[in-house]
Amino acid sequence: MIPSSLLRALRSARHVVVFTGAGVSAESGIPTFRDALTGLWERFDPGELATADAFRRDPALVWGWYEWRRMKVLQARPNPAHMAIAELAGHVPQLTLITQNVDDLHERAGSREVIHLHGSLHRPRCFACAREPAEPLPAPDEPEAGRRLEPPRCHHCGGRLRPGVVWFGESLPSDALRAAFAAAQACDLLLSVGTSGVVYPAAEVPHLARAAGATLVHVNPQGEAPQSAHEHLLALPAGQALPQLVREAFGG
Ligand code: OAD
Repeated sequence: MIPSSLLRALRSARHVVVFTGAGVSAESGIPTFRDALTGLWERFDPGELATADAFRRDPALVWGWYEWRRMKVLQARPNPAHMAIAELAGHVPQLTLITQNVDDLHERAGSREVIHLHGSLHRPRCFACAREPAEPLPAPDEPEAGRRLEPPRCHHCGGRLRPGVVWFGESLPSDALRAAFAAAQACDLLLSVGTSGVVYPAAEVPHLARAAGATLVHVNPQGEAPQSAHEHLLALPAGQALPQLVREAFGG
């Protein structure tokens, strides 16, 4: 049951921000990071896989792991949560979609101008000279989790390609971060979907919106009870909550 005050706030919002994390892609079969048992960081050590030092130490281990993740994304499809977010953009005057995810499921659901705070699995670049390859990489050849794969070489300088994601200890892309913070400060309603909200600076986004007086809506089956009348929790999987929210607010 969606509170009528939330439906009213969504119908009258001028600028909606949707801020997503791994939970929005969970129902597409992409594992999250911190969910008990199924989360990637339950099974794999980020220090061995998600840092520049790890790549220097063992590029084939790191590249193989990210190619495994890229393959899982290529095999996945957008779910009703991704679709509902793309549809919502057609119902409100302005919508900014900010994601922490490195998959492209929002784009494949039809969302445009997605702000990727943590980069993308689909945009590798050279570890040495930062240039991107001229041709998109071919689909990975069914790698398994933990299988080593030599990274391809850069056609400019011969350096190794690295995944185009933000690793621990690295800065977020500054244009993306600036645009995300500006949208958070300007919006009147922010939907935070499927994120544990523990990784900064991305996790600043909902705090900035709250401080600017926006209504906050958390979509998370494990979410905590909201603290104020301007904050709501839809404690359901995103693939159920978001289509229901869009339907009840705008019909169709
Ligand atoms: P987490 O794995 O930390 O959190 C996922 C959240 O999604 C949890 O709060 C779950 O309860 C929730 N969840 C699970 N299934 C869901 C569903 N079907 N619908 C809605 N919510 C669901 O993932 P993130 O918050 O995205 O960073 O993690 C943030 C960052 O930490 C990632 O971008 C990544 C990681 O280290 C980098 O790689 C830089």
